[in-house]
Amino acid sequence: MSSEKTNQSWGGRFSEPVDAFVARFTASVDFDKRLYRHDIMGSIAHATMLEQAGVLTAAERDAIIDGLTQIQAEIEAGQFDWRVDLEDVHMNIEARLTDRIGITGKKLHTGRSRNDQVATDIRLWLRDEIDVILGEISRLQEGLLAQAEQHAEVIMPGFTHLQTAQPVSFGHHLLAWFEMLSRDYERLVDCRKRVNRMPLGSAALAGTTYPIQREITCRLLGFEAIGGNSLDGVSDRDFAIEFCAAASLAMMHLSRFSEELVLWTSAQFNFIELPDRFCTGSSIMPQKKNPDVPELVRGKSGRVFGALTGLLTLMKGQPLAYNKDNQEDKEPLFDAADTLHDSLRAFADMVPAIRPRVEVMREAARRGFSTATDLADYLVRKGLPFRDCHEIVGHAVKYGVQTGKDLAEMSLDELRQFSDQIDADVFAVLTLEGSVNARDHIGGTAPAQVRAAVARGRELLAAR
Ligand code: ARG
Repeated sequence: MSSEKTNQSWGGRFSEPVDAFVARFTASVDFDKRLYRHDIMGSIAHATMLEQAGVLTAAERDAIIDGLTQIQAEIEAGQFDWRVDLEDVHMNIEARLTDRIGITGKKLHTGRSRNDQVATDIRLWLRDEIDVILGEISRLQEGLLAQAEQHAEVIMPGFTHLQTAQPVSFGHHLLAWFEMLSRDYERLVDCRKRVNRMPLGSAALAGTTYPIQREITCRLLGFEAIGGNSLDGVSDRDFAIEFCAAASLAMMHLSRFSEELVLWTSAQFNFIELPDRFCTGSSIMPQKKNPDVPELVRGKSGRVFGALTGLLTLMKGQPLAYNKDNQEDKEPLFDAADTLHDSLRAFADMVPAIRPRVEVMREAARRGFSTATDLADYLVRKGLPFRDCHEIVGHAVKYGVQTGKDLAEMSLDELRQFSDQIDADVFAVLTLEGSVNARDHIGGTAPAQVRAAVARGRELLAAR
């Protein structure tokens, strides 16, 4: 890229060329060129509106649209010469338009400013990005539903404090992640409403003297509403912050999900098998198969939280209206969107390939006295107060620890040492199946409820 020439777009009042380093320092083209498609879309809508408002002739409008369409093709063919001396994507495209179509190209910027132009571009770009991300959330959720349905009867230990607590269905555990992702989806849909408001027409900060018709550009660009204040229009970046907040929550969920996968693939848990294509080996330890994808996703959550903090800090000291600070909004926003998108994609590909080690999970659930609460509930049904039952079962567990026996492995006589209310029917509640089947209400872990939740989840996805 060259950096020696003076910028033709605003050079009029300057008596020396901008310092070569300052030109590079203030330029954004290296990163904002990825907005080119949305920039051209916005310019085509603006030119169309200017013709209807009587500011451009039909021939001028056509020349502009034709030129912009060809520039888009040039960019997509990798034949566009991005120039850092032209600062940003907006001025690169406008200069090239004038190269191609002559003086008419210089009329495109009538009645607008780069300030409303860039705010429009980012919103159009982010709207598309959100739609892709929503699609990936749905794809990941579909994978979770299929796995939950297939493994509704598979029993694993449920944990609190990472200590074995009560047996749960593996499908039920997967559906907890489904719930988190449903909230992420809702948040992004809600955020999209505020992304989808149009700043175009705010011009530099105060509006414009031309008879612009903002309803026309609004309709052409598919915005849901027109921004009601020009000062706010050029300076507002709330939508980007909201997106990063929603993206941070989603990454936090994926990070927790990752942490469980990392634990479960370890030799100590050995609950699941991740296919080799989602793992890598070690250059020194031949036995290793590392869960790289979940580890990376867990690590990448930090970048997105950083983007959120960065954007809040970027905005907090800015007086109205546009300030050059705002150019710093793009890299964190792009990075947050890319990171979330890629992480979701990796998970959506990986989740259908997870295989539970059913026997290992079952054995772990059987071992940790996971049906102790069920024994207490059984005694409550025999008429004892819950607190007393808790204590009785505590003694039974202590005996189990000393003798190396789980509750279900004790004989009736052994169990009756702790309460004469215990009868032979106790063994039905001490089994893993008895325990999960008993939690048979909406949101509970009984396999029948897991299947009902899968059906509800499918309806939710179908309504999107
Ligand atoms: N590259 C700038 C940005 O990203 C475009 C708007 C510049 N406006 C200006 N008056 N310098 O924010």
